[in-house]
Amino acid sequence: MAETFHDIVLHRPELARQYLHALQAQPGRPLSMFAPRQTGKTFFLMEELTPLATDAGYLVVYVDVWMNRNAPLEAINHGLEEMLDKLYVPSSEIGRLAKTEVKKIGVLGTSLELGSSPQRRPLPEQSGLRLDSLLRRTHADYRKKILLLLDEFQALGEADQTQGTNAVSALRAALQQHKAFVAAVFTGSSQDELGAMFAGAGAPMFQFVQAVSFPTLGEEWAVALQAHFRKVHRGKEPSLVDLLRLFSEVDYRPKVLKDIVIRMSADGVTDIDVGLTQYLTDDANIGVWKSQLDRLRHPIDRAMLHLLAQGMKPLTEETRQRLAQMLPSASRVTEGQARMSIDRLRKSGTISKSSGSYRFSDSMFRKFLLNEPWNRFPGSSITL
Ligand SMILES: Nc1ncnc2c1ncn2[C@@H]1O[C@H](COP(=O)(O)OP(=O)(O)OP(=O)(O)O)[C@@H](O)[C@H]1O
Ligand SMILES: [Mg+2]
Repeated sequence: MAETFHDIVLHRPELARQYLHALQAQPGRPLSMFAPRQTGKTFFLMEELTPLATDAGYLVVYVDVWMNRNAPLEAINHGLEEMLDKLYVPSSEIGRLAKTEVKKIGVLGTSLELGSSPQRRPLPEQSGLRLDSLLRRTHADYRKKILLLLDEFQALGEADQTQGTNAVSALRAALQQHKAFVAAVFTGSSQDELGAMFAGAGAPMFQFVQAVSFPTLGEEWAVALQAHFRKVHRGKEPSLVDLLRLFSEVDYRPKVLKDIVIRMSADGVTDIDVGLTQYLTDDANIGVWKSQLDRLRHPIDRAMLHLLAQGMKPLTEETRQRLAQMLPSASRVTEGQARMSIDRLRKSGTISKSSGSYRFSDSMFRKFLLNEPWNRFPGSSITL
């Protein structure tokens, strides 16, 4: 039983087993697992899949592609090289000697003269070839399978076009050629972006990956939080039905639900509507949402978000008229401009398209905007 709310985690070993099984059943075909922001993908890769695969004999390499989107292959290679470095450090001086060529043995066998450490052919500089060599060498040296976990994989679509396509082709070639000992999982939060990237890389990509679903944490998560609340408050607790409704309102983000429940517990409150209001008016959260808004460089994007929050459709005449009224210098807003704005908002991950309409990736951000007056000049204290 967890000591504090912070210690509560939900493990999903069965899901990890299913994934590993799917990888082993179809060698050469990576899994692609996409789910909305903040639903626990990275946690799952690190805390569930990595230990399970390691126990099953894989060497696991994790790479955040988004953080390295301008040099994705180099980042994968770097991950592999770091892993090799760790494996290569000999466990003892004997280990080091054993890896060093003996040049001369003294007459009585007492003096050993050692040559320089064994040198291998340098790895190719070109990143695609280097990936290939690294995978081969790792397998040849350690006789283990390699599992590449490529998180935020859709960011390859945001990399400069040729970089992204080159990386995808090199990966595809490596995974196909070494399917006997290399497996991969692609993870990300935008199916849209992934689709665009695969379309750019050509049709075979679609047949290449196995799409698997990544279920959100479900009732069990609410039950775990409720149980801890009950323990702390001697029997007093928010109802499960309420907690599940709250979980859906916060887009099944486990951390957000936990944060709200922690605050409710601190205040001794069991009414989730009070918890939700508290979350929406919390200074720290408001600060995050404000800076998210300030990061949008085009004023039209901010205005568009305000209107989307109110439930308006992005491209209609009415929306474009409202946009023109909201913006300082626009007498009218064309459909093309509205479309470009939507496109930027989608790329930034603020909104996503699902079944034909746009929705906020973070419903709490939408609720914040509903209460936020429109400000043409955010960050400026001058009111004109
Ligand atoms: N099974 C779990 N049990 C407890 N907490 C979890 C669990 N899964 C995720 N979390 C928490 O939820 C938060 C978001 O998780 P994580 O970063 O893995 O999500 P993500 O889907 O990778 O997000 P992003 O789309 O932003 O990359 C983290 O604070 C994490 O600790
Ligand atoms: Mg993540």
